[in-house]
Amino acid sequence: MSEPSEGLSNLLHEERRFPPPAELTANANYGAEAYAAAATDRLGFWDDKARRLSWATDWTQTLDWSDAPHAKWFVGGKLNASVNCVDRHVEAGLGDRVAIHFEGEPGDTRTITYAELGVLVAKAAHALTELGVKQGDRVAIYLPMSVEAVVSMLACARVGAIHSVIFGGFSAQAIYDRVIDADASLVITADGGWRRGKVFALKPVVDEALAKGTTGVKNVIVVRRGENDVDFDAERDVWWHELVDRQPDTHTAEAFDAENPLFILYTSGTTGKPKGILHTTGGYLTQAAYTHHAAFDLKAETDVYWCTADIGWVTGHSYIVYGPLANGATQVIYEGTPDTPTQDRFWQIVEKYRVSLLYTAPTTIRTFMKWGEELPAAHDLSSLRVLGSVGEPINPEAWMWYRRVIGGDRCPIVDTWWQTETGAMMISPLPGVTATKPGSAMKALPGVSVDVVDDVGTPVPNGGGGLLVLTEPWPAMLRGIWKDDARFVETYWSRFAAQGYYFAGDGAKKDEDGDLWLLGRVDDVMNVSGHRISTTEVESALVSHPSVAEAAVVGANDPTTGQGIVAFVILRGNTANGGDAQVAELRNHVAKEIGAIAKPRQILVVAELPKTRSGKIMRRLLRDVAENRAVGDVTTLADSSVMDLISSGLSSGKAED
Ligand code: WTA
Repeated sequence: MSEPSEGLSNLLHEERRFPPPAELTANANYGAEAYAAAATDRLGFWDDKARRLSWATDWTQTLDWSDAPHAKWFVGGKLNASVNCVDRHVEAGLGDRVAIHFEGEPGDTRTITYAELGVLVAKAAHALTELGVKQGDRVAIYLPMSVEAVVSMLACARVGAIHSVIFGGFSAQAIYDRVIDADASLVITADGGWRRGKVFALKPVVDEALAKGTTGVKNVIVVRRGENDVDFDAERDVWWHELVDRQPDTHTAEAFDAENPLFILYTSGTTGKPKGILHTTGGYLTQAAYTHHAAFDLKAETDVYWCTADIGWVTGHSYIVYGPLANGATQVIYEGTPDTPTQDRFWQIVEKYRVSLLYTAPTTIRTFMKWGEELPAAHDLSSLRVLGSVGEPINPEAWMWYRRVIGGDRCPIVDTWWQTETGAMMISPLPGVTATKPGSAMKALPGVSVDVVDDVGTPVPNGGGGLLVLTEPWPAMLRGIWKDDARFVETYWSRFAAQGYYFAGDGAKKDEDGDLWLLGRVDDVMNVSGHRISTTEVESALVSHPSVAEAAVVGANDPTTGQGIVAFVILRGNTANGGDAQVAELRNHVAKEIGAIAKPRQILVVAELPKTRSGKIMRRLLRDVAENRAVGDVTTLADSSVMDLISSGLSSGKAED
């Protein structure tokens, strides 16, 4: 186990408390009694939450855990996720409520009501059926932030197909790997999307991916967005507007089993190969909807909600698509970046749509801190009511800034801890109940059971630190890793098999009140701007370059992105000189192999790497170097002079990018 990031561990004597605003407490969706109700009858509590959805057939058993760690929730129940997200609101007379305010980066807008969303989803579902997509088939979605991205996901859910959304920043290689692993038969993409004032290519990346080898892909649907030229394969490719627009605008949906797979989402683990995290329908939707309703205190009639995540990550799945739409919320979806055309774009959007619930990441908040208070101050942010944070630990300075500058010292902050694997929020304040502390996610939501344990699984006392575990199954839990059950059991359930705990991979502390402080990953997974990237993945990408003999990658503290990727490489004998051009080429090579998000912040060319006698690279020492600290204990190194060599090479500055 490597040690979690140091920065937060000394902050456990926080004296500041921010009690909830009185009028929020008075009208809160969830009061303190929710904790008591869940503690008295946990499964009954989840039954109640499941009943917030609309089921075609009731379940006969809440949880079947007899085949642990393989769970079945709401056994025998049947429902359709897309009906829950759309049709039932229209049937309830809410068809005219805005579901989506879409704001394109160039400033174009679209307003989609629930009734209109219903028509779009119906047409897209018919289109999938026309292309032969059936229940259980896999559909890869590689789209910009758009109405079509939401519609595509819901259309898959409607026909029982399993979507696998691939973040629009991923490379052709990453698409190919995912399409092969999931054996997708269809890809939905676009001719492009807007980013930083330019159209970025998507379709050519898909073309390149599918040319890498034989895949099961029969068709590619292409949304027109960028208005740029794309190559078309007449047999395989079809325009969205030609296929979807001509379909009937009503569609009768089948109800599927609660455990019918809903989606696969690939995420980084500790090895080079991304894991296909599998989620199913009933439990996932129950918890996504409940947590969105609880943590944001959503009032669907009046609130305007905005989650700034991309649909390519789990936050976009649970808190743009499934949670908010299942709750009948009105939300903003924004296509572009916060700095285009100007650095106050987010605050323009909040003002324009009167956003009341905002969900964003600490890295974004820290970026805004750099850009200065004047930008948000120039806008009317008085509509804001609750502010959410997700993706990485939020440092108290950023928390305080978020509260004061964005929230006008009036809005509760909900720091929500969860993972792709957990499917939905697990740890978060309740905005009408919790007196928050800057930097703490506080405690498990009602219905969720967590603890912090030592290496052998014994709970640590208040004031102690250790590993975060989930001690009871929860409805939105992953049901497996696609096609790799052994890895599922090994990764999450083997470390504390005796106790039956889920091992989250995060370090955490309990403060003197028992409130939780998340301290970052304890494994080789880095967290860069809230995105998970494994050190091994980047190392594999580097050594796939002909000039690299060996590579070691660490996540180093970064004031804005949380962690930054720092790579140490040994070059092959004669091929290389380690100059700027070569370092630049290696950075681009990583971007090409994985995606621009995985580009190392810094590549250091070294002659040796620090290894133990058994050959294990000591990343701890490399992290010391990357974070400009005195190098720690080197006694276990096979050759203790290696660190001197590395450090002296650095001070020459030769390898800096
Ligand atoms: C980290 C994102 C501290 C954590 C929803 C976790 C957090 C990983 C928080 C999952 C938070 C997420 N405080 N750390 N509020 N939220 N994390 O799968 O290390 O992209 O294990 O899911 O992000 O990242 P993932």
